[in-house]
Amino acid sequence: MTTAEFVFDRWAASHQQRIEHVLSRVLPEDTALPPRLHAAMRYAVLGGGKRVRALLSYAAAELAGTPVLTADPSAAAVELIHAFSLVHDDMPCMDDDDLRRGKPSCHKQYDDATALLVGDALQSLAFECLAESQAPQALKQIQVLARATGSRGMCGGQSLDLQSTGQQLSLTALEQMHQHKTGALIEAATLLGAYAANQTPLPLINTLTTYSRHMGLAFQVVDDILDATADSQTLGKTAGKDARQAKSTYVSLLGLEAARTLVNQLHEHTRALLAPYGQAADPLRGIAHFICERSF
Ligand code: IPE
Ligand code: IPE
Ligand code: MG
Ligand code: MG
Ligand code: MG
Repeated sequence: MTTAEFVFDRWAASHQQRIEHVLSRVLPEDTALPPRLHAAMRYAVLGGGKRVRALLSYAAAELAGTPVLTADPSAAAVELIHAFSLVHDDMPCMDDDDLRRGKPSCHKQYDDATALLVGDALQSLAFECLAESQAPQALKQIQVLARATGSRGMCGGQSLDLQSTGQQLSLTALEQMHQHKTGALIEAATLLGAYAANQTPLPLINTLTTYSRHMGLAFQVVDDILDATADSQTLGKTAGKDARQAKSTYVSLLGLEAARTLVNQLHEHTRALLAPYGQAADPLRGIAHFICERSF
């Protein structure tokens, strides 16, 4: 392991610990009314997940020069939206998946109606979190997250995913689907962190937008690759289901090798993009490396 990798691993571990505490504080206790819904929300959010989106918020905030505390609402809000997207993604009417983060999916542990409400409630909690922060750019953060979550972002991508199941998409349509269902929230995670600062220079926003577009696509291409190559235990979710469900993925369209080449190219673009930012961008470099090289 190089020194840079060691430093990044420690940075990531401390911020992963941090977001776990923040999320636990933000989520209502499972003793609060209605206890079953609150228990299910805590079940879906806590104690699992790589927390990549939270790390992106913290890393962008660090690059924008704002203290870590100011990025807590951003990091929490994006992880709440992400958890909501996973709960609904696993439901029988979508991917029908029984395993998530190494545990029964929310609708398996509870029931379909509860899982539906968990998603709804996590979504509103995310926006409550941002609104209560009273940060100077809170309204901008709310707008960015709303846009990334809705029909022109994640929900839109999920709709394209469902519609395209069983079909052969063009490469352009596949990229569009991935950028919507996964890229939009990755981009929002990064931008929300940058908007946690009092002021964010436009050139930084532009760099972070390009960074996240590359990494959002890379993230879902690696997800497609891992679905085809890793096992369920390592992933903590059912492996091999994309092929079984005839999903349109980079692996089904391009094959494993070309999908891997694309990830490497996206990683390379990102490295070049961050070069002018020196050491301050090390966390973003570390996250890019993790996104592209991860095995789970
Ligand atoms: C899985 O996301 C869903 C996709 C958008 C590909 P993650 O791989 O980030 O899931 P967790 O949060 O680590 O469980
Ligand atoms: C999910 O894509 C993207 C979301 C918005 C949740 P997948 O359906 O491939 O995610 P996994 O593989 O179930 O985590
Ligand atoms: Mg899906
Ligand atoms: Mg799925
Ligand atoms: Mg997948």
